[in-house]
Amino acid sequence: MTQQSDAQNQTLSNLMHEERRFDPPADLAAQANLTATAYDEAAADRLGFWAKQAERLSWATRWDEVLDWSNPPFAQWFVGGKLNAAYNCVDRHVEAGAGDKVAFHWVGEPEGETRDITYAQLKDEVCQAANALVELGVKTGDRVAIYMPMIPETVVTMLACARIGAPHTVVFGGFSADALASRIEDCDAQVVVTADGGYRRGAASALKPAVDEARTKNSVVRKVLVVRRTGQEVAWDDSVDVWWHDLVAKQSTEHACEFFDAEHPLYVMYTSGTTGKPKGILHTTAGYLVGAAYTHWGVFDLKPETDVYWCTADIGWVTGHSYMVYGPLANQTTSVMYEGTPDSPHQGRWWEIIEQYKVTIFYTAPTAIRTFMKWGDEIPAKYDMSSLRILGSVGEPINPEAYVWYRETIGGSRTPVVDTWWQTETGAIMISPLPGVTSAKPGSAMTPVPGVVADVVDDDGNSVPDGSGGYLVLKEPWPSMLRTLWGDDERFKETYWSRWPGMYFAGDGAKKDEDGDIWVLGRVDDVMNVSGHRLSTTEIESALVSHPKVAEAAVVGATDETTGQAVVAYVILRSAAGDGGPDIVKELRDHVAKEIGAIAKPRQIMIVAELPKTRSGKIMRRLLRDVAENRTVGDVTTLADSTVMDLIKEGAATSTED
Ligand code: WTA
Repeated sequence: MTQQSDAQNQTLSNLMHEERRFDPPADLAAQANLTATAYDEAAADRLGFWAKQAERLSWATRWDEVLDWSNPPFAQWFVGGKLNAAYNCVDRHVEAGAGDKVAFHWVGEPEGETRDITYAQLKDEVCQAANALVELGVKTGDRVAIYMPMIPETVVTMLACARIGAPHTVVFGGFSADALASRIEDCDAQVVVTADGGYRRGAASALKPAVDEARTKNSVVRKVLVVRRTGQEVAWDDSVDVWWHDLVAKQSTEHACEFFDAEHPLYVMYTSGTTGKPKGILHTTAGYLVGAAYTHWGVFDLKPETDVYWCTADIGWVTGHSYMVYGPLANQTTSVMYEGTPDSPHQGRWWEIIEQYKVTIFYTAPTAIRTFMKWGDEIPAKYDMSSLRILGSVGEPINPEAYVWYRETIGGSRTPVVDTWWQTETGAIMISPLPGVTSAKPGSAMTPVPGVVADVVDDDGNSVPDGSGGYLVLKEPWPSMLRTLWGDDERFKETYWSRWPGMYFAGDGAKKDEDGDIWVLGRVDDVMNVSGHRLSTTEIESALVSHPKVAEAAVVGATDETTGQAVVAYVILRSAAGDGGPDIVKELRDHVAKEIGAIAKPRQIMIVAELPKTRSGKIMRRLLRDVAENRTVGDVTTLADSTVMDLIKEGAATSTED
């Protein structure tokens, strides 16, 4: 565990000593969806347990075999089964008489702009969009890229793609044109659905220009379907661009859906890995939907008749896919969907929405919680949030202070908090307490959900005893597991399955406490977690090095009070660039934003003369992290030239953050 931050380890072990525990409230326990017997049931017959969870979906043809694991790590789940994901998320609820039920209470960022969408309306719009995509020439199996704000059309487009069997790849609206272009190219997405822009932080931001620019970088895109959201001016190319309101609105609200094979690709979601090139995580239809629906129902103890659920994630991330779209809709949930940022037009906006819609289940990220803590308790105190009954956290380790604040200040000390560990790759929650069944400890994701087999192992792949740390692994396949990396089976095997035979290596370090409960500590590879977003150190280094003034760059994730980790870059300039000029730091930060997106901008850039390297030439990131976190620099004996660190420390002391 040498790569892991020592400070992080130390803090966690201190916290584990002064551990607190919250037991499930009696009223929740009395009517919990899952009961304690689910753990035994799943342990006794894991595949039988998953087959039972698959019953919550509607199948056109039932499966013959629950799991085919004859060619690991390539899994096939529910072999022989046929179904349609959009039918499961929408049509079947309308057929069951729930057409008038609200699927989404959509809230735009500009105040007063809201829209309630019923399941019947959603069905009509999904059918229209499916017909429109067909008219644009999209066929089953073709990929469609989605680059959209948080508006109902985004969900409609995803479901329309699922309906016609065209895997979607949603690219987060904060990514740059370059990042969008590389994703479009990697999965050969010939049709892009976008909007003129969306509202964020009190203003209209643009999206279409990035699509236009991405189109100049390759010739993959044939058609761009554009939603008018803000009314801002957009450049227009009649041979490519089509307005949503022209094409979709005129389509029939009927579309007879086809039923696809259980393993038909549902979507590709790009995420950062340890190398520069993002990985296209492939999820397929049945297993993914079973995983998302089961965990959404079990982990949030969802009562579809009475709950109002709100997940604040952006649809551009996996949490938005599994817990805003597929899981909740498969379970016939009424959800809130909010377009903008939490501080617009005021810092109580989220709590106001909870009060207004009487939200009962709320799912967000630790970075948001820490931000609200900073803004002050008096803000949430102004709102009536007594409707809340369950709170969830996802995306990064939640520090116990933030957990307790969340439970007390937002949850009025009544609501259990479920700290849910999972990844883009796992498709659904893997480790979490069950709010009506298990107790919870602030800072611990506790135990794998029934059906999932997780463990913490040492370097040799042996399970560590309680009270020790190691690497987090999953020891049995699960239905919503990624099937491969788009177009790269070898990288799939190498990244996740090569370290210990038969085990999925998640890339996270973890500890088991004395009770055997799991505490996830964070990444042990070169992936950073900034505000719950995964960023690769290598990807940012490549972006920096592509700047003409840069000779070499090293990037580390340093602990940050609000964002969990922050990007800190050390840069050596080319000699021809001199000192880089007065704006060099800004220039480099903007360059990273252009190459990847604003989320990847380094918090701090230090211009240095040399980087600490081992005798074999490997950059010693551990030392750079020590400097970035203002710690005493660790062991430098393996350093080729140990005076380098003194120079870097001096540089760090004089560098400015902006
Ligand atoms: C981290 C987000 C600790 C972890 C769903 C993982 C967490 C990565 C937690 C996946 C949690 C997510 N506690 N760490 N509850 N949830 N992580 O793919 O490092 O964007 O590997 O999926 O986030 O990030 P991803």
